[in-house]
Amino acid sequence: FFLKDADGPLAGKRILVTAGPTVEPIDPVRYIANRSSGKQGYAIAAALRNLGADVILVTGPTHEHIPAGIETSRVDTAREMMTASQSALPVDCAIFCAAVADYRPAIETTHKIKKERGGLTDLPLTENPDILKSIAQLKDGRPQLVVGFAAETDDVLGHAEAKMKRKGCDWIVANDVSPGASCAMGGSRNTVILITDQGDETWPEMSKDDVARGLAERIAKTLSKPKI
Ligand code: CTP
Ligand code: CA
Repeated sequence: FFLKDADGPLAGKRILVTAGPTVEPIDPVRYIANRSSGKQGYAIAAALRNLGADVILVTGPTHEHIPAGIETSRVDTAREMMTASQSALPVDCAIFCAAVADYRPAIETTHKIKKERGGLTDLPLTENPDILKSIAQLKDGRPQLVVGFAAETDDVLGHAEAKMKRKGCDWIVANDVSPGASCAMGGSRNTVILITDQGDETWPEMSKDDVARGLAERIAKTLSKPKI
């Protein structure tokens, strides 16, 4: 059990973390989701709390236990995650670990889809809002540090750098989720590339808890630098 470190380097800093998947209903019994376990985001939330931060965790459905001492908002859909994240503002730093569904069914139905009535042969989709982008590009009240995640295959660094520019975040934590890569989604280990304005650094394979501690320390150093 942990008590927040009132003298920690992040004491007095308010930090938003999104985590887990979002789930997008097709009908009352079915949904579209993804393989995110929430482990990395929950570990980051706990590591930031350990350094004294006031953490607001906005999470999709996961099997993880909510770490103690963290204000938590549970959501299902991307649109709910967007609303909950915006209500957490203002924050000093925002970290977007969630695997937000890019699309949702275009039509919401409150009736169960039945085979006898034609079933589901076609599922029109519509794009979800981009939560990270909307907060990274705020004119007023933008967090001092906005961190995105990028799970990629193929040209991992290239895709991640392009994503960082496109979305306007300050850092991106990239990882390779190709089948056969050492750290597929759902596991407890991770190999990440941290991309900042100083360039990119590849961290060795380590536990998700160690990635979280490393990032939390880096965030503490960055937020404690005097603003120019
Ligand atoms: N993200 C978000 N809201 C979305 C989609 C993504 O906040 N609707 C955030 C994720 O939490 C992550 C970052 O944006 O921090 C990158 O997500 P990713 O899915 O890799 O980016 P996309 O722009 O959706 O690109 P892709 O086509 O590769 O999925
Ligand atoms: Ca996406």
